Amino acid sequence: MIHADFTARRFGLHTAHTSYWLAADDAGRLLHLYYGPLCRTAPALPPAPHNDPGCWPDRLPQEYPAPGLGDNHAPFFAPEWPDGTVAGDLRFAGAEVTPGKYALPGLPAFRDGDGAETLRLTLRDEAGLTVTLLYGVLPGCGVITRAAIVENTGRAPVTLRGVPSAVVDFAKADVPALDLITFDGDWAAERTPCRAAVRPGVQSVGSVGGIPTHAHNPFAVLCAPDAGEEHGACWGAALVYSGNYRIQAERTVAGVRLSLGIEPFRFAWTLAPGERFTTPEAAFVYSGAGLGGMSRAFHDAIRRHLIPPRWADLAAPRPVLLNSWEACYFDFDEAKLLALAAAAKDAHADLFVLDDGWFKGRDADTTSLGDWVADTRKLPGGVAGLCKKINALGLDFGIWVEPEAVSPDSELYRAHPDWALHIPGRETLAIRNQYVLDFSRDEVRENIWQQLTALLDSCPVRYLKWDMNRSLANVCSAALPAARQGEVYHRYVLGVYDLQQKLTARYPDLLLENCAGGGARFDCGMLYYAPQIWASDNTDALDRQMIQYGTSFCYPPCVMGEHYSTVPNHCTGRTASVEARMAAALTGTFGFELDLTRYTAAEIEALHPFVQFYRDHGALLRSGSYYRLAAPDGKGAVWAIAAADGSEAVVFAAGAPLDGRRQPLPFARPGARYAVQALYTGGADETAHAGEALAAPGLPLPALRGEVPGYIAWLHAQG
Ligand code: GLA
Repeated sequence: MIHADFTARRFGLHTAHTSYWLAADDAGRLLHLYYGPLCRTAPALPPAPHNDPGCWPDRLPQEYPAPGLGDNHAPFFAPEWPDGTVAGDLRFAGAEVTPGKYALPGLPAFRDGDGAETLRLTLRDEAGLTVTLLYGVLPGCGVITRAAIVENTGRAPVTLRGVPSAVVDFAKADVPALDLITFDGDWAAERTPCRAAVRPGVQSVGSVGGIPTHAHNPFAVLCAPDAGEEHGACWGAALVYSGNYRIQAERTVAGVRLSLGIEPFRFAWTLAPGERFTTPEAAFVYSGAGLGGMSRAFHDAIRRHLIPPRWADLAAPRPVLLNSWEACYFDFDEAKLLALAAAAKDAHADLFVLDDGWFKGRDADTTSLGDWVADTRKLPGGVAGLCKKINALGLDFGIWVEPEAVSPDSELYRAHPDWALHIPGRETLAIRNQYVLDFSRDEVRENIWQQLTALLDSCPVRYLKWDMNRSLANVCSAALPAARQGEVYHRYVLGVYDLQQKLTARYPDLLLENCAGGGARFDCGMLYYAPQIWASDNTDALDRQMIQYGTSFCYPPCVMGEHYSTVPNHCTGRTASVEARMAAALTGTFGFELDLTRYTAAEIEALHPFVQFYRDHGALLRSGSYYRLAAPDGKGAVWAIAAADGSEAVVFAAGAPLDGRRQPLPFARPGARYAVQALYTGGADETAHAGEALAAPGLPLPALRGEVPGYIAWLHAQG
């Protein structure tokens, strides 16, 4: 609910358990007043810092700070005027509250629904800029969203050299100390949480690689130093964006300023009079109930308001798929694929995915990206011929593409070398032997669109994996003049969104999975178009615990691409038990990623109970509340997904915790008695426990031996 006092110019944004307050002071400066537990009474304006009004911009908590006129924080918003100055003086000029949540043209954003509302605040700089701050309130999920629209209302061009999506100033008086948690990593080791106190000065994460990259995720948390999984104050901030970004926390004498938005490096967007620029969206959650509560709020919002509505019914079954990558890499022909598909069918999969290597000449990663027609040496009947045979086995068909990439050795590149991002006079950097197509250009996207639709119209393709295996470099568009090269990174992202939007509109039932060399583009922007993203190329059962644990701080397990793979693991060489590998895969979008033709009939049969487990409990796994029970430490972890009312849950454990210890379950209902069914290869095991005992001292985990043992149990309350 939005509380708007238009006379006092005070605004409160309330969700079920949280409030966010802001107000304009007498001078029209928009000040941040409060973000925390539900508070229906407007807090007082902060006292003017001292008698010299010239210092106030630097000391007052501001809602959309502008540089150059006394605010000496690290700048983010940077409007450059025709006279070469960079400054802003934004004063309150109006407010409007409307039912429903705003949408952003051409950009992903959390969707309307469940009583959402919008607050629009207009700020004006008399020199010729109007900034409209958009606030969306998703009351049921506890999420507040923000975005800004900057309009040139003057008579001369203005160049934006930085434009944050949102800034939140945490006044020192309210929050004396804060920790910052970022999610950092590498290929095959994405999104490991990294927590440290916010020190004086600026700490930031971001990307200049054109996509978020493996290094940092566009999500961060500020929290009280004592905040833990189930207690303490924390504020999560996610950027709904898939390109260059910055998340910046700056501690000054006034407090901590959190800023999120497009990375200002190489960003320059000139607005002619009358033109507007819309920022990507930022989404915030406050939780007084620790990091677990914060994550569960984001999970709810992503499931209910972000992923495509076609996939929002979490009770509806999702296909169990087998993906060909780790089974064959580039080395296959049709006979091998059909044998693999037959084995997938024997394992009770629903869908077969043909990964990389199917298009002409693609026997290695050195060639052919951009030429999206089948290699008839491998597939004599083309993709349609293979699809027909896969369908005849009783399986649906899916396929892999990498639409943004082009190999130097391809017909597309030979015909249109200027379609690849390149800086004239400099060598174009190939990463994984490939260049990046200039998706800022309409004609480039149109060519790829024609190729994709020809592929998807040729046969019933039910699933598409959209990959992007490198970051951007040599960023320069042959279609734009020198003065507008600062637009290319953002226009590239808009181009990707444009094509995914068209794809989901034309093929509403196509299950789209995004991917970027594993999880280099795992963000809320991509989730607007695809309900799932491949989490990592590392499918090792132990390593996946950390990757999925870190990912879960913002993203619900049902959007994490997770597959059961072979041992020794292709990335790590480690051997983990069937149960541990199944635990990692069953938490998210379950599937297989291994050569099942090498498995005996008995070994394949042993997988059936796990597939059945996914079918029986998939709705709970996709829709339930996620609990990080014992954090991964490289040796093991415990986690669970529970129904909101605690009536049932699936508890997963792998590795060291399986030494007979007890695991307290915070969601267990004290008055209930729970049946606990544990699933092992070759059998099941059933015990019963009082809910009170499960809450504390906890569920007795079995003592299991072996390199990486695993445990998967379904608990349900019987009274
Ligand atoms: C990336 C993906 C993999 C696979 C390969 C194919 O690495 O993450 O899953 O699709 O590309 O080249």
